Amino acid sequence: TVMNQLLGMHQVEKEISQYFGIKRCIVVAGNSDNQEKVLYEFGDILTDSLDLLLPDGDNIVAVMGGTTMALTAEHMGTLETEKRHILFVPARGGIGEAMTVQANSVSAVMASRTGGHHRALYVPEQLSLETYNSLLQEPSIQEVLTLIEQSNCVVHSIGRALHMAARRKMSDEEMVMLKQNNAVAESFGYFFDEEGEVVYKIPRIGLQLKDVQKIPNVVAIAGGKTKAKAIRAYMKNAPKQTWLITDEAAANEILKGV
Ligand code: F6P
Repeated sequence: TVMNQLLGMHQVEKEISQYFGIKRCIVVAGNSDNQEKVLYEFGDILTDSLDLLLPDGDNIVAVMGGTTMALTAEHMGTLETEKRHILFVPARGGIGEAMTVQANSVSAVMASRTGGHHRALYVPEQLSLETYNSLLQEPSIQEVLTLIEQSNCVVHSIGRALHMAARRKMSDEEMVMLKQNNAVAESFGYFFDEEGEVVYKIPRIGLQLKDVQKIPNVVAIAGGKTKAKAIRAYMKNAPKQTWLITDEAAANEILKGV
């Protein structure tokens, strides 16, 4: 029955949040590997979660990019009220994604769906270190970096290490190094092994992993059976305040290894 299914799902959510020692886990029925509707549901759930988490007053929500984030964003609903205001900013600049799934685009879509505002961080891909460093001195960039530092919430996804390295067209040397270090997961431009230890980091401006630890509200969104291993690896050392939004396919696979 539907009731039994709901109770079963509730049990799975509890087991997962206890296993990782995180605040909450929400599981959507289905498998986002091949069901787009699961991703739409992530949008509803993210909206409800932020509605619970974000206090009245001014909020700054830092967001990452990727296809999960982009599709989730498109299905969000209103969050802005007379008392609560939300500014969306990209969490990190230029980590190598196609335009439509860049953090800048995701934050713009989230702002328009929720009724909030957004600021972009313009850092082109593939910069020389010299240009990169001088760009950092730009007041317009400094301003957005300050906003990112002040964020009280971050929403991010989790990907498979080698898949993400290939998507970002990382060099052959980097690929070999990731394999040698048994990288299985990627989030925020950091690569993690199965124990959730950082094995490599793409040096970029914006939020660093140590900053995420201090942000009061952290929401991770990732599903699909193919991502289960990556999700488990990253979540092992995820900040304790994290809420994980995932799907049934990933959740069942994660619990198999417990
Ligand atoms: O590149 C941004 C990012 O959020 C990564 O940190 C993450 O691994 C990836 O996107 C997830 O992408 P997708 O949702 O397309 O699997």
